Amino acid sequence: MMVFYTQSQLKQYLQPLKAAKKSIGFVPTMGALHNGHLSLLHQALAENDVAVLSIFVNPTQFNNAEDLEKYPRTLNRDVDLVKELSEQIVVYAPSVDDIYEGNTVATNFDYDGLDNEMEGANRPGHFNGVGTIVKKLFEIVQPNRAYFGEKDFQQLQIIRKMVAKSNMDIVIVGCPIFREASGLAMSSRNERLSTKGKEQAALIYKTLTQAQTVFNDKDVKDAEAFVKKTFESQPDFTLEYFIIAEVESLKTIAFKKPNTKYRAFIVVHLEGVRLIDTIELN
Ligand code: PAF
Repeated sequence: MMVFYTQSQLKQYLQPLKAAKKSIGFVPTMGALHNGHLSLLHQALAENDVAVLSIFVNPTQFNNAEDLEKYPRTLNRDVDLVKELSEQIVVYAPSVDDIYEGNTVATNFDYDGLDNEMEGANRPGHFNGVGTIVKKLFEIVQPNRAYFGEKDFQQLQIIRKMVAKSNMDIVIVGCPIFREASGLAMSSRNERLSTKGKEQAALIYKTLTQAQTVFNDKDVKDAEAFVKKTFESQPDFTLEYFIIAEVESLKTIAFKKPNTKYRAFIVVHLEGVRLIDTIELN
């Protein structure tokens, strides 16, 4: 397994592989790897000749300095985990300077409104930061396919949009959410929860599956009221948002329409940790 800390070393390594028409699967991450990331890597390895994993906590996508500071950084452990998985993986773990070359600012993107609600509305500038780093990484790695988890479903749709608008020849592969046995969606942020917090956080997925039933039996407002009431009765949780939106446009809705696919999106805070989850509704 190779670990590179600069884009010039990585490009030098990948160049002959590209010349030999080897396919490259890319998994961008911010590290603190868990089984969800490893499942993306498995898929990238199965579908490509080489898998590249990037580990980089991207400052321009954090609109909250404390969140950026507290984001777990576990590079040595991450590299050990990847080594156990396969020797075929190439790790790219750059510094801020290697990526941003002295200009740590985000570019403004037009995502045709996909960023108007949910994470876009609640974390101003977040998706410009994501678009900036993902575009830079795509230009460095030049993958054939790139793998993203559906947990960050809005991010996945936004990256698809950015790639289409930038005419990049990269297939974006969305991968199912990996969950703990309790149903808690795997996330690097879960590391900041206590054992009790992890147990309590199982309520998020349980509530989403119940909301799915309410949505299918009744309508949007009923599912929203159910989720609001559930978290109001749980003093350890703060519900930031629960939103039902159309899958393609990510526009929120007040009533169901026939022949339309919907998803529910939720963010709650527990023990000072911001937890995100989503479920397909129909
Ligand atoms: O989903 C993430 O971990 C990040 O947003 C990403 C895509 C690696 C960009 O920093």
